[in-house]
Amino acid sequence: MAELSMEAFTDTVIGAIGPKTTPRTRELMTALIRHMHDFAREVKLTTPEYLAACDFVVRIGQMSDDKRNEAILASDVFGLESLVDFLDHHSAERGAATESAVLGPFWRENSPLLPNGSSIVQGGKEGDSVLVQGRVLGVNGRPVKDALVAVWETSPNGLYEQQDPDQPEFNLRGQFRTDENGYYAFRALRPIAYPIPFDGPAGELLQMMDRHPFRPAHIHFRVRAAGYHELVTQIFDRDDQYLDSDSVFAVKNSLVVDFKPAPAGADTRFVVDYDIVLEPLAG
Ligand code: BEZ
Ligand code: FE
Repeated sequence: MAELSMEAFTDTVIGAIGPKTTPRTRELMTALIRHMHDFAREVKLTTPEYLAACDFVVRIGQMSDDKRNEAILASDVFGLESLVDFLDHHSAERGAATESAVLGPFWRENSPLLPNGSSIVQGGKEGDSVLVQGRVLGVNGRPVKDALVAVWETSPNGLYEQQDPDQPEFNLRGQFRTDENGYYAFRALRPIAYPIPFDGPAGELLQMMDRHPFRPAHIHFRVRAAGYHELVTQIFDRDDQYLDSDSVFAVKNSLVVDFKPAPAGADTRFVVDYDIVLEPLAG
């Protein structure tokens, strides 16, 4: 048997990948092995540090359940979800389409389908009310009818409903269908900045790197319409103090909006006007 040399070691591990591997898996695994080995060599990783990293991954799993995805949280702290989102959506063809932002770990499928203009606030109504309204358009400026606009936000205590036994199921979540003019509207609470959960491994990472856990105030959107690319994004409150230091690096200038005082006689305190532009599917 040939002796393993330090220099050839990485090539030996990559060379062990078998012929039945798919081309994409080969590409991913080859680069992953190379980067991991280069990392270990660069920092001269010690055995205690290696074991601590393995323990960290184990605790990510132990902390996760159907309501909490610590793997997403930890990768968010490293900016990885935002980087992947950027790589996935950064193409010249996107043109004037609305920029994307990370989905995050608190998305839920099947939130209530509500009539346009209605409120996603079910319980705990403390907080400033806001009307969010606009049109869903194609990049050609034409309205997109029947788009499904799903939105979600935390309650003023900084928790999403699935994190908080005191909130009703699907509180502060809803889906709205655009009308024939592409119009959507919903009533909500003006969002507040909140900390991502920091009582587990993701929080340890933040502490190790001397960083705070806060996300600037935002409302999440997931917009789906036949013939268009799905859009996952967030809108951010221009008055927020954490716009420049989002703990998950998701803020983009074009997604920062004004919460304007509502006109006299309105039934909400603030209004946000926000049009959403979708990229058509190719072909
Ligand atoms: C969120 O905005 O819901 C979120 C995104 C990434 C990590 C944690 C929370
Ligand atoms: Fe969020």
